[in-house]
Amino acid sequence: NKGNFEHYMQKEIHEQPESLTTTMRGRLLRGGSCKAKTVLLGGLKDHLKTIRRSRRIVFIGCGTSYNAALAARPILEELSGIPVTMEIASDLLDRQGPIYREDTAVFVSQSGETADTLSALDYALENGALCVGITNTVGSAIARKTHCGVHINAGAEIGVASTKAYTSQIVVMAMLALAIGGDTISNQARREAIIDGLFDLPNKVREVLKLDQVMKDLAKQLIAEQSLLVFGRRYNYATALEGALKVKEVALMHSEGILAGEMKHGPLALVDENLPIFVIATHDACFSKQQSVIQQLHARKGRLIVMCSKGEAASVCPEEWESCRVIEVPQLEDCLQPVVNIVPLQLLAYHLTVLRGFNVDQPRNLAKSVTTQ
Ligand code: UD1
Ligand code: M6R
Repeated sequence: NKGNFEHYMQKEIHEQPESLTTTMRGRLLRGGSCKAKTVLLGGLKDHLKTIRRSRRIVFIGCGTSYNAALAARPILEELSGIPVTMEIASDLLDRQGPIYREDTAVFVSQSGETADTLSALDYALENGALCVGITNTVGSAIARKTHCGVHINAGAEIGVASTKAYTSQIVVMAMLALAIGGDTISNQARREAIIDGLFDLPNKVREVLKLDQVMKDLAKQLIAEQSLLVFGRRYNYATALEGALKVKEVALMHSEGILAGEMKHGPLALVDENLPIFVIATHDACFSKQQSVIQQLHARKGRLIVMCSKGEAASVCPEEWESCRVIEVPQLEDCLQPVVNIVPLQLLAYHLTVLRGFNVDQPRNLAKSVTTQ
C-alpha cells in the first residue's frame, strides 16, 4: 500500500523517521531504573563476550548493505578497538579470502536471501568464524543460518532501490558498536553523545526531509546530464558510494562515489566546467580537509553542489562563487551524520528518475532480491 505516495521508493524515503524509531524501539535505555545510557540488542547479548575476544570483525554484504557497513566501520573501530575489514560477498568468494575461527563475520542483508552473501556465509561457517546476521527479514535464510544477529525491523521494503533499510542498518551497526565497545570511563561521554544522538535521529531525519522541493529543483537542473560525481570521506565515503548507487540504479545516470582523499590520484582529471560534482562537507574532524578539496575543485572550474551543516554555507562556498549550490542539513554526532546525509541524495535520485520518465520502483534489469550468482 503506497498510501498518499506515488511510488514505493518515495513512501519509503519519507517514512524513515518512523522506520528508524521502530529499529531502535526497546533497544536504547536511558534514565529511569537504569541510570547509565545503554544499548540492549537481545539477539547478541549471549555472544558479546565472544565477539569482543575476536581478532577481527569482517563485514560482508552487497550493494547498499555493503555501503551501510562501510558507514558504520569507523565507529565500530573506534569503540571496539578491533580491526574491522570490509568484504563484498562476491569478491570474498572469488578470492577465497582467508576467514579464521578467531573472526567475527557480520553478514548484512536487507532481504536475507542474497545469493552471494548466503554463499559467503556458508564459506565463513565452514571456516569456523562466529557468524552474525543483520537482516530485515525474520525467517530469511541469512537470519536462520547465522549463529546470532539483529533484525533491523525497518518494515517491508518494496522499492528495488534500498532506502529505509540503509538508514536502519547503519543505526543497528552503530548500536552494535556501542554494545561491543562496552562501558569505559574514557569513552563514556562519547557513548552518551551517540545515544542522545540516536534518540534525536528521527527528528533530524524529519527535518532533512523538508529538502524535498530543493532536491526536486536540483534534479530539474541535472535532468539532462550524462554523469554525476559524488565526493565524500570518512563517515561519508559510504554516503558518496550510496548516493551514486541510487542515482545510477534508478535514474539510469552514470554516477560515481569518490573518496575525496583520492581526488588527486585520478578523478581530478575529469573536472571541468560541465561535469556536476556533489561534495559532502558536513562538519566533522575532516571538515578542513574537505574545505580544501572544495577549493581545489573550484579552482578547476568544477560545477559544485556542496552539502554542508546548517549555518556553514559561507565557509564551504563564498558568496562570490556564483555557480556553487549549497544544501544545508542538520548536524549531529559525526557517526550518525551519514543517516541524515543520504536522505537528500535519495530524494535527488527519486526526482531525477521521475523527471527522466523511468520506472522508479522497478528499475530496468534489476530485481529486489538477487537470488542467483
Ligand atoms: C526479540 C523478538 C521481538 C520481541 C523482543 C522482545 C523476534 C524475531 N524478535 O527481538 O519480536 O519484541 O525479542 O524482547 O522474535 N538472529 C539471527 N540472525 C539474524 C537476525 C537475528 O540469528 O540475522 C537471531 C538473534 O540472535 C535472536 C533472534 O534471531 O536470537 C531474534 O533477533 P532480534 O529480533 O533482533 O531480537 P530482539 O530484538 O531481542
Ligand atoms: O537484500 P540485500 O541487502 O542483501 O541486497 C543487496 C543488494 O542487492 C541491494 O542492496 C542492491 O544494491 C539494491 N538494489 C540497492 O538499492
